[in-house]
Amino acid sequence: MPHAELADSALQKLFDAAKLAFARAYAPYSRFSVGAAILSEDGRIYAAPNVENAAYPAGTCAEAGAISAMIAGGSRRIAELVVVGAGEGLCTPCGACRQRIREFAGPECPIHIAGPDGIRASFTLSALLPYSFGPENLGSGT
Ligand code: THU
Repeated sequence: MPHAELADSALQKLFDAAKLAFARAYAPYSRFSVGAAILSEDGRIYAAPNVENAAYPAGTCAEAGAISAMIAGGSRRIAELVVVGAGEGLCTPCGACRQRIREFAGPECPIHIAGPDGIRASFTLSALLPYSFGPENLGSGT
């Protein structure tokens, strides 16, 4: 049941994984730490922080790292995602990461935006990336 509402304890576990990744961020240039944690449809958790680079564009977002970890771990579909970001505002995924998430998630996939203090707002993928282009457009699926 990928789109059923997660129990509080399951969401807390996903948040904890994102917060641990956040604490491990390598962000010496922006000093803006991010951690992302994916709950896959097969019930596993994959997390990663942002990893910056002295050659700035070579840095990677937390969401991209978590997706790579998911694929490396053998899972293929995102059921739910938590992003923990620094600052007072909402650390919503950047445009490129919305598209990366879109590759492996359905339109109703919940994306929870958090600070280290807890979840601040929740969106569906289709709210963050409406009228999106995906694998179906190419006649393939994940
Ligand atoms: N960043 C993420 O990792 N995920 C987001 O959702 C927003 C931004 C990172 C990229 C860069 O390392 C730093 O935050 C500042 O942009």
